[in-house]
Amino acid sequence: METETIQKQKTVADDFLPMLGTDHLELYVGNAKQAAFFYMTAFGFQPLAYKGLETGSRDVVSYVIRQEKITLVLTTPLNSKHPINDHLRKHGDGVSAYAIWVEDATSAYEETTKRGGIAHLSPTKIEDENGHVITSGIKTYGDTVNIFVERKNYNGVFLPGYKKWEPAYRTTPVGLKFVDHCVGNVELGKMNDWVKYYEDVMGFFNLVTFDDKDISTEYSSLMSKVVSNGNGYIKFPINEPASGKKKSQIEEYIDFYEGAGVQHLALATEDIIHTVTELRKRGVEFLNVPQSYYDDILDRVGSIDEELKILRDLNILIDRDEEGYLLQIFTKPLEDRPTLFFEIIQRKGAKSFGKGNFKALFEAIEREQELRGNL
Ligand code: FE2
Repeated sequence: METETIQKQKTVADDFLPMLGTDHLELYVGNAKQAAFFYMTAFGFQPLAYKGLETGSRDVVSYVIRQEKITLVLTTPLNSKHPINDHLRKHGDGVSAYAIWVEDATSAYEETTKRGGIAHLSPTKIEDENGHVITSGIKTYGDTVNIFVERKNYNGVFLPGYKKWEPAYRTTPVGLKFVDHCVGNVELGKMNDWVKYYEDVMGFFNLVTFDDKDISTEYSSLMSKVVSNGNGYIKFPINEPASGKKKSQIEEYIDFYEGAGVQHLALATEDIIHTVTELRKRGVEFLNVPQSYYDDILDRVGSIDEELKILRDLNILIDRDEEGYLLQIFTKPLEDRPTLFFEIIQRKGAKSFGKGNFKALFEAIEREQELRGNL
């Protein structure tokens, strides 16, 4: 714990890559129009911006949807020649980019590539009548990239090239506020390489480590390390499979995503009971833990503000650390391949990731894996 604190202070002191927050996440999808409808209907995202044939974008279409600080860009190519097709063919729908909002995207590119960051997009100025944005980017695990977005000289709706999207169809937001963390699954033996990459290249520090003793069931296990930037706005847990009697959920992901990639996005809410009640009403499916999970839960986590019966009915999980507790729940995969899913999380002081729930959770995942014939 002590070394972590020292490391953190050091990182903040010489932060060569100041981050203002998560800018957006881009998902490459097979049908952006339908994906936008799904995320708006099921998760309460609001329409924000659009580019496509009507705006002069001849090759790709993108729908931008937003809920508070969470911005998703859903992109589909409009012909067979566009390189996004390679991503789609290989991975199916998934997160192609985690974009970080920075003060200076040129410096972000120079500082990260100087430290070994793999170049993806050299600093590029894009502009329209609302000003200009500078974007740049480096590669990370699999075909995923981290984009840097500098938008201090821009006051348009999203990025140059997009117009405001104002469909008549709206849904009510469900209370999702911001991206709490974004988890990557990487190949066996590769976790430490990517942790080191984030440490060396982006100045992140290793916030917490889980080994196979923390995260194992009768059948499978995994290892995980969480890296965070200096101010804690950006947190990337990175998982790798560990050997077990049967195929781990990480291997299943890597088999079906055909490589490393983003496994889940944790979206924060300030009222998980309201959020999950709404999501269930709208047809969102969640992983279920057995009711027996709740039998002795209060012995483990102590007293909580919420009524236990309501949490049990909604199948929301509870965990506590030294600083407080957290409530969390995980959706089933959001597409047909068992790959990307969402976590809904409410933090009540706790800064951890729900270690006490790992076993119950992974057993729930394994029941789903078994149904898919993948355990
Ligand atoms: Fe998570």
